[in-house]
Amino acid sequence: MPVVPATPQQLDRAAALLRKGAVVAFPTETVYGLGAAALDARAVARIFEIKARPAFDPLIVHVADEAMLEAIVESVPARAHALIERFWPGPLTIVMRKRAAVPDLVTAGLPTVAIRMPAHPVARDLIARARMPLAAPSANPFGYLSPTRAEHVERLLGERVDLVIDGGSTQHGIESTIVVLEPEPALLRPGVIAAEAIEEIVGPLAREHADASGLLAPGRLPQHYAPATPIRLIEDPTRVPPAERVNAALLAFREPAGGYRETRVLSASGDLREAAAHLFGYLHELDRSGVARIDAQRVPMEGIGIAIMDRLERAGNS
Ligand code: TXA
Ligand code: MG
Repeated sequence: MPVVPATPQQLDRAAALLRKGAVVAFPTETVYGLGAAALDARAVARIFEIKARPAFDPLIVHVADEAMLEAIVESVPARAHALIERFWPGPLTIVMRKRAAVPDLVTAGLPTVAIRMPAHPVARDLIARARMPLAAPSANPFGYLSPTRAEHVERLLGERVDLVIDGGSTQHGIESTIVVLEPEPALLRPGVIAAEAIEEIVGPLAREHADASGLLAPGRLPQHYAPATPIRLIEDPTRVPPAERVNAALLAFREPAGGYRETRVLSASGDLREAAAHLFGYLHELDRSGVARIDAQRVPMEGIGIAIMDRLERAGNS
């Protein structure tokens, strides 16, 4: 599986591969995606195979412009227009009623499809060159930590991906926020964009949404984003008994604590955006360090901190 730089030549090559049904990993501003032609059910099936992803977990479709959006949804709800105006391109995914052309595999049989227009220049350029929407989940094995660098994809998915485009570390380090607007506005996954910023535009968001099929927000499994090493959430590392630190790693919010075998500090200045950008990269490192347990310190539940805590809680539910 070649890892290639994001040059115009390589993007053309990737676009040509995608048009033939290949699976290509590419950077977005959130995490790396594992992309395939969204309207080609056989290509999309390979994504599920490579990730060992259960068929009940629907994918996000990535578009480069509004014309692509119109090709995959029946109509854009009025409230969606305002969100698109404000947040696209960017890390907001909106769930809308799909057209028949979108394969059931993409949406796990739901009548709706999740769509976003990424802001990362490489992602947008790739979709534009491919001239078609790309279905792309995060480029990691199902349930494992999300990839924020090309080397994560390379290590985790090995030879199974046809091409990996290296765009360096991703900017936000955490996935997009997912909302649905009909029948009523609801938050399906906390993410980079704070729910409050969305509420300023569409009014209150319900926080637990049961979709038409009765599934509670598909993909919102209690355990997800998890390292292989057991992870435990803690309040204050200085209160963990020293004996419990010896063979463990600490993922601290602002300050290290003595006695741990490995330590990473998410943001010394307490900046939650910086913390989010470091989260998965540090967890990948700690997971490979050979410690018996990772103690992850809670971060403040505000702004993107809510998405960080969402990921940490799911990572810890083993
Ligand atoms: O930032 C992101 O969103 C990244 C990058 C690659 O764009 N993608 C990503 O995809 O996080 P993934 O597959 O890891 O998460 C997709 C989730 C599903 O697990 C599900 O929760 C939600 O999107 N989803 C997809 N289609 C849906 C639908 N029709 N209704 C409700 N939720 C849906
Ligand atoms: Mg994922």
